[in-house]
Amino acid sequence: MYAFKKITISMIFVFALSTYVHVAVAQHETMQGSMTKPMAEVPMPKKVEDSRQIIQLNDAERAIVVADMRQMLASIQAITDGLANGNMQSVVKAASKSGESMMGELPTQIRMKFPESFGQMGLASHKAFDRIAQEAKTSKNPTSVLKKLAAGIQNCVACHATYRFSQSK
Ligand code: HEC
Repeated sequence: MYAFKKITISMIFVFALSTYVHVAVAQHETMQGSMTKPMAEVPMPKKVEDSRQIIQLNDAERAIVVADMRQMLASIQAITDGLANGNMQSVVKAASKSGESMMGELPTQIRMKFPESFGQMGLASHKAFDRIAQEAKTSKNPTSVLKKLAAGIQNCVACHATYRFSQSK
């Protein structure tokens, strides 16, 4: 009788344990599933038009301009990194890389294709980087440098909202 009780108890224990493991595995699978599978289906919105003005550039011209864009983004990254780490010297260096002097390297053939306001916003962007460099050099005040950066990024935002380049065929 005693032995029977013991077997029954251990069977209940094994059953409980296996149920627990089973549930735990199932939960783990669900979690993994939600990471790899797309979430609930989101349909494409019906009406999203890209109404930005198109600037016609050939592939080679486009490559030059978008490389400059990536350079400016890299400058912003390095500026914020310098500010976060209190390294004003690297802020000056990073900002100077995207200053007005960068525009001098842009071939005239490309510049002639830019609408006037595009050119103005481009120039304003580069000048903003020079101002950031100047502020970092003279005031060494992270907040005032950050303010100049925020003002400069307004140009990126405004131009991206207005223009795009023609797609390469
Ligand atoms: C005078 C207009 C103008 C200004 C100012 C401007 N951009 Fe752009 N940028 C564009 C256009 C146009 C494109 C191409 C968009 C397209 O056709 O998809 C572009 C593309 C880019 C890209 C994508 C590059 C690639 O490899 O395709 C990055 C990154 C970028 N811009 C960063 C910046 C940053 C950062 C600033 C500000 C510091 C900035 N841009 C300011 C017009 C501008």
